[in-house]
Amino acid sequence: MTDTVKDVTSGRNSRKVFIKTYGCQMNVYDSQRMGDALAQDGFEPTDQMDEADLVLINTCHIREKAAEKIYSELGRIRVLKSEREARGQTMQVGVTGCVAQAEGAEIIARAPVVDLVVGPQTYHRLPEALARVSRGDKVVDTDYAVEDKFDHLPRQDRRQIAARGVTAFLTVQEGCDKFCTFCVVPYTRGAEVSRPRGPILEEAQRLAAAGVRELTLLGQNVNAWSGEDAAGRPIGLAGLLEALASIPGIARLRYTTSHPRDMDDALIAAHRDLPALMPYLHLPVQSGSDRILKAMNRRHRAEDYLRLVDRIRGARPDLALSGDFIVGFPGESEADFEDTLALVRQVGYAQAYSFKYSPRPGTPGAALDDHVPEDVKSERLERLQALLRQQQLAFQTSFAGRDTDVLIEKPGRHAGQMVGRSPFLLPVVVPAAAGQVGDIVRVRIARSLPNSLMAEGAEALDAPMIEPHLRKIA
Ligand code: SAH
Ligand code: SF4
Ligand code: F3S
Repeated sequence: MTDTVKDVTSGRNSRKVFIKTYGCQMNVYDSQRMGDALAQDGFEPTDQMDEADLVLINTCHIREKAAEKIYSELGRIRVLKSEREARGQTMQVGVTGCVAQAEGAEIIARAPVVDLVVGPQTYHRLPEALARVSRGDKVVDTDYAVEDKFDHLPRQDRRQIAARGVTAFLTVQEGCDKFCTFCVVPYTRGAEVSRPRGPILEEAQRLAAAGVRELTLLGQNVNAWSGEDAAGRPIGLAGLLEALASIPGIARLRYTTSHPRDMDDALIAAHRDLPALMPYLHLPVQSGSDRILKAMNRRHRAEDYLRLVDRIRGARPDLALSGDFIVGFPGESEADFEDTLALVRQVGYAQAYSFKYSPRPGTPGAALDDHVPEDVKSERLERLQALLRQQQLAFQTSFAGRDTDVLIEKPGRHAGQMVGRSPFLLPVVVPAAAGQVGDIVRVRIARSLPNSLMAEGAEALDAPMIEPHLRKIA
């Protein structure tokens, strides 16, 4: 879990907003949209919390640690707010996102510094809610709004998009109907809803026209996206990707996060047929034990996952996989855990995220008996992560001496360097002469550093620190 301070867009008068984002990419997207809505309302972004007239904390409820972090953050905000008040200034404080949805008014009871609690479905009503706060009300808005929030959020303008760079997130689906027994998302984000194709294509066209080259389609269950083509025929994610690939300027497409049960034949074929679709897929499995998969309500067996991976690799042999794992789900025995290690060895992951099971209020998992002791969870997590680290390192070092395409994103740390990403999301430092931001260049990898690849001709004094834009932050 990493905190990221995300940019918001600029407005005209002097009110300033600071937005801090926790959680998954969907929260990053939502923070940007809230920034857009507030820019229209006259707010300018700031990355200094103490100069903000409005502070928004966009929160994540996925694990206890993530949710609890919010309260220590609110403690710090309380101090800054009193300091501002001592200087005769004000500070409005809002909590948005999944903790807002899950805890609602309780947040204000526990942290009275909070003026405003807004769930993920009602961001478009933020300006209206703030007006009420200015009149002295405390506001809690955690409805599942009947109107589609996407229809009511302002469009990003060209300047705003350009400021965010050549890669962009685009939420195409929200919510989840899968009800894995460990997970809060179906409760915090509600039922699965697909955005229609038309507005998605319009947003993608706007992004492309402003210089975006790479789109990552977002959804808690993005491969369950469904819609209609221009003629009204039903299509799935593969059909949407095909339409997006034909937008001039869009060179790269990605999507995240996928559920193994929703990888249909058309989507697998798209990995073979669509050159713009990058050969990198986040396909969480959580566990390699059938018994635990069943208890988690994942509704597939380990073998189904392995067979699926074979089929996708059959369509796209150079495909790299990333995954999510939970260790210590209630009832997980040493043998179950070893099944997870065996699955990891069999698949070979380029990247992975692994977590100790965290019981979440209201989920069926939390009510199960036979919780795994904390020290056993820690020990298993260490063993799993050691294996995953080995695989990640092997993947990264395998590029030395090979050619790869790089989408250039920004200048490097040292003069004469630019930094971009390979199709597999690895940061690559290239010689500045190779190209400009937004170009896709082919380079030969000279060596692999701990966090990045160095192309031939991009000599550096030290390993540059790169803020991984697509690092998973949930
Ligand atoms: N929709 C995605 C997951 C979203 S949550 C999917 O189906 O895979 C992101 C990750 O957080 C999950 O994949 C899981 O590994 C982890 N996670 C979710 N709930 C958790 C919990 N209660 N304890 C520990 N990890 C959890
Ligand atoms: Fe949570 Fe993903 Fe399962 Fe949905 S599919 S309940 S988001 S883990
Ligand atoms: Fe967290 Fe909500 Fe995303 S719980 S992982 S911010 S959907």
